[in-house]
Amino acid sequence: SDPALVERARAAKAALGDRVFVLGHHYQRDEVIQFADVTGDSFKLAREAAARPQAPYVVFCGVHFMAESADILTADHQRVVLPDLAAGCSMADMATFDQVEECWEVLEDAGVADDVVPVTYMNSSADIKAFVGRHGGTVCTSSNARRALEWAFSKGSKVLFLPDQHLGRNTAVLEMGLSLDDCVVYNPHRPDGGLTQGQLRDAKMLLWRGHCSVHGRFSKESVDEVRARVPGVNVLVHPECRHEVVLGADLIGSTEYIIKTIESAPSGSAWAVGTELNLVRRLADAHPDKNVMFLDRTVCFCSTMNRIDLPHLVWALESLARDEVVNPIEVDPETAHYARVALDQMLALP
Ligand code: 13P
Ligand code: SF4
Repeated sequence: SDPALVERARAAKAALGDRVFVLGHHYQRDEVIQFADVTGDSFKLAREAAARPQAPYVVFCGVHFMAESADILTADHQRVVLPDLAAGCSMADMATFDQVEECWEVLEDAGVADDVVPVTYMNSSADIKAFVGRHGGTVCTSSNARRALEWAFSKGSKVLFLPDQHLGRNTAVLEMGLSLDDCVVYNPHRPDGGLTQGQLRDAKMLLWRGHCSVHGRFSKESVDEVRARVPGVNVLVHPECRHEVVLGADLIGSTEYIIKTIESAPSGSAWAVGTELNLVRRLADAHPDKNVMFLDRTVCFCSTMNRIDLPHLVWALESLARDEVVNPIEVDPETAHYARVALDQMLALP
């Protein structure tokens, strides 16, 4: 990265001192992550967001839904900044508030809504989290999806899982012992979600038809190819991958789990990792004694995570150093209240 920009970021951060707290998701570019005070997966960052209540400015290097959650979880006087407002998440965009309300009406008309506990993946907008909070549900992340589902099934006989069908299915089938037949996919673009009354009645897991455009590209062929090419390779993937990919893997977990697994792996071991490329490259660089490779060379970066680059970070920090708040993320108080109910439920999971 440009040394002049690195120097400007360093100077602006030094000028701000304790007035700024920078959070960085593991998928961020190297040039950005080097300035993070805390790095983490989305669960760790949600917990850490509230860790510096004395800092008036929180710069979130990640995507929009994470910055919204940080705004909800930080104190009222703190301002959360997203260095580029175009850093969204295509998965979060796959469930809109209106679509989810419509889905709930379908469930009411089918006479099953009272049995349903909604669970939303962190990767969703604040108004979806608020919807879930209003209906007695919880948020989850890839590191606590199982605990969230156990909690939800202790409250109701059905779960509506938003918006990532893969995390929902993988967790239900591989960690909760449900069958594939217990899971149906609700398609928001079809009348009644494309489901029959019988399916709405019998399904235990109603999976929203959403997916990650990055993790969804890994295939069973990627797994077979790397196993054929690298004898003894361990395949380690994120649970946003498709079910057949996860079935073919050796280990499955959130980004934080992936990092810990590689860190504790023996020297000389080989790892094909199915998650975002910035993270896999960083792991490979940090562990030259291990053979860490990307699961599929045709898959690329998360383009929206990559929107946060050094020029945007420098601009945000230099503006804050002049007490000018650029790109603030502000969730309206009513939405924030109910979204917080669902986030607090997640933070209280056993
Ligand atoms: P985690 O940070 O929970 O592993 O999720 C990955 C992801 O896709 C975030 O967008
Ligand atoms: Fe969204 Fe996938 Fe990018 Fe994560 S990796 S921010 S789920 S598009």
